[in-house]
Amino acid sequence: MVKGNQIVITGASGFIARNLRKYLSEKNIKLVSISRNDFKQFKNEHKVISKNYDEKSLLSKIQNSDALIHLVGVGKQSVKTDYNMVNVEFTKHIVNLSKKAKIKKFIFTSGLGVSSNTSLGYFISKYKAEKLIINSGLNYTIFRPSYIVGKDDLFTKYLKKQIKKGKIEIPGTGTYSIQPIYINDVVQIILQSVLQTKFKNRIIDLVGPDRITFQQYVKLFSKGTRTIIKKINLEDVCHTAITNSNSDFGVDDLNILIGNFKGNHNKLRKITEIKFQSVVELLKSGSLL
Ligand SMILES: NC(=O)c1ccc[n+]([C@@H]2O[C@H](COP(=O)([O-])OP(=O)(O)OC[C@H]3O[C@@H](n4cnc5c(N)ncnc54)[C@H](OP(=O)(O)O)[C@@H]3O)[C@@H](O)[C@H]2O)c1
Repeated sequence: MVKGNQIVITGASGFIARNLRKYLSEKNIKLVSISRNDFKQFKNEHKVISKNYDEKSLLSKIQNSDALIHLVGVGKQSVKTDYNMVNVEFTKHIVNLSKKAKIKKFIFTSGLGVSSNTSLGYFISKYKAEKLIINSGLNYTIFRPSYIVGKDDLFTKYLKKQIKKGKIEIPGTGTYSIQPIYINDVVQIILQSVLQTKFKNRIIDLVGPDRITFQQYVKLFSKGTRTIIKKINLEDVCHTAITNSNSDFGVDDLNILIGNFKGNHNKLRKITEIKFQSVVELLKSGSLL
């Protein structure tokens, strides 16, 4: 990357953004990171605090940037915050801002399982956001990630919290599968998508090499701890999710978990040519704990 070029990151204090900003900063890439709240700044980083990402305060700061990585999103709804507001309308605002600012590349994290046939509210909002980006005329890469895991993602933090309490609860049978991908691989791939033209205007699944049942995942995660693993009736977990917006699993978290979505890892491997970290190996080594 030519010195002086810059990357804009929205939702700067989120999980992917924190890890990505650290990685890019270590690569000496100039960053403009935007968040609604204050956050710790990395080297080469320009911090922007903005409650509503208004054009007036942002346009001059992001003008002509090499890429904007849009990492704002919600996976749970409440009366105050719904999918349309954040995942669709807010994305529309950022797309318009990117066009005005002549951003050279727009990168978006959608979701594994998003398709024109989906009936899930969360996926519908991500699908609409994808369409806005595709129709914008911007050079884009859309990633559809499965569970991105590291030390500080929500899913890992949730499991750690349960281990502390001595019991991990599995919604339903636990025989549904996930295809987790390691955050350190994700940040590398995102940078590749900024730098390499082969990512131009593509939608790519962001999935790891292993598919593993949730039950196996939890067993490996808690290996060596004295944690009881208990299956909970899916109806009960659903009931809590529906009636309590602060529950650990939201309604759509559950739908996605039991949805058994499968991504195309070979396509990702071919395009990135990186050596992927097996999340199963990470779990076996206990390094996510
Ligand atoms: N992590 C995964 O496994 C995964 C998988 C599939 C897709 N994704 C997608 O990837 C993106 C980033 O994921 P993440 O795991 O890093 O999520 P995250 O930790 O929840 O971060 C999302 C960020 O979005 C911003 N945000 C939330 N509500 C907002 C609002 N109303 N207005 C403005 N900003 C708002 C917040 O940034 P500030 O607090 O800094 O303002 C928040 O930190 C999301 O779109 C998510 O759907 C993630």
